[in-house]
Amino acid sequence: MSFKKQDIYNALETITAPGEGKSLVENENVKNVVTFGNEVVVDVVISNPSLQAKKKVEVEIMKAIHQHVDQKIDVKVNVKTEVKPKEEVNQIRGKEIPNIKNIIAIASGKGGVGKSTVTANVAITLAKMGFNVGILDADVYGPSQHIMFDVEKERPLSVKVEGRSKMKPIENYGVKLLSLGFFTNPNQAVIWRGPMASKALNQLIFDADWGELDFLLIDLPPGTGDVHLSIVQALPITGAVVVSTPQNIALADAKKGVAMFQQEAINVPVLGIVENMAYFTPEELPDNKYYIFGKSGAKNLAEDLETAFLGEIPIVQSIREGGDVGHPVALQSGTKLEESFKEITQEVVSQLLKRNANLPPTEVVRITTMSGCSTK
Ligand SMILES: Nc1ncnc2c1ncn2[C@@H]1O[C@H](COP(=O)(O)OP(=O)(O)OP(=O)(O)O)[C@@H](O)[C@H]1O
Ligand SMILES: [Mg+2]
Repeated sequence: MSFKKQDIYNALETITAPGEGKSLVENENVKNVVTFGNEVVVDVVISNPSLQAKKKVEVEIMKAIHQHVDQKIDVKVNVKTEVKPKEEVNQIRGKEIPNIKNIIAIASGKGGVGKSTVTANVAITLAKMGFNVGILDADVYGPSQHIMFDVEKERPLSVKVEGRSKMKPIENYGVKLLSLGFFTNPNQAVIWRGPMASKALNQLIFDADWGELDFLLIDLPPGTGDVHLSIVQALPITGAVVVSTPQNIALADAKKGVAMFQQEAINVPVLGIVENMAYFTPEELPDNKYYIFGKSGAKNLAEDLETAFLGEIPIVQSIREGGDVGHPVALQSGTKLEESFKEITQEVVSQLLKRNANLPPTEVVRITTMSGCSTK
């Protein structure tokens, strides 16, 4: 088999650089091409750090070389991520939040799968581990954290911090909380548009006196629509946790949830998937497991999507009751459920550390008007 380096470059010329309208070669994504025998090694650098983007470019390169040069060439592709200088990126980095180290969004796709339950219990577990933790309840459709933390009747006070008025989060169980539920009438439907919701949430992050936080968890509304896009684009989310139940219908939505974060315009790393309601366990027979919604669906999905499986939680009556009465189960020391949430929380933290070691901070689009994005 004989081919020249130039043949390889010609093949790479046929691939369009993501979001550029130029070829990979012209856009200077291709850093090196080495050929020996029937083997070709291509080094490329792209700006999108998601696994999906890397895989896509790898597959495109293989296809182009096989199609335009020779089917039998053994192609190896090394994809590296390099974030472009700020001025080159068509997105504006959000205000640094010096006092909040990590923002984790909890999402699902499908509603009612246990996002809020997971958020509350993981937050309490993080607080028990000694971290400074806050929750921002961003569920524009039906906030619930103020109920789960038994602070339904409280209202955040305004405090002066360095001459500026800031909202003071309500604290319980060692967790600081701000919720849209503190500002809306529970009997009235509030209709939010995406930019409005993200503006309100931005205020709850930037104009609040959170103090020093290791983690701010954001309990997102269900779905992957316009409101969600606006929210996840507007907040500098370090990583996302996707919650799913084992049914196919929930898994399909979880997949969409993961895809939403991986979109080029959003680009929030997904830390992994939690399987909630993995099996039913009667309280009095804790060793009996009934897989009423199917078995290991979320675990398999995590594998398919090349993301981490963060753990599973059974359906147990006390989890529901704990949420309803404002005393989540993770508060009950020495129980199996406390242990399950501890395992999940540890996995979330370890995935987050991995993410922070390997990827740059998340970019945000700062939305300041109803009609679009500002550059400030
Ligand atoms: N593992 C579980 N065992 C028993 N009940 C659970 C479990 N997880 C969640 N629930 C209950 O299921 C209901 C829905 O859970 P939750 O509110 O956490 O879901 P959600 O995904 O936040 O819902 P929404 O999409 O409406 O925001 C609640 O009543 C909650 O107490
Ligand atoms: Mg919820």
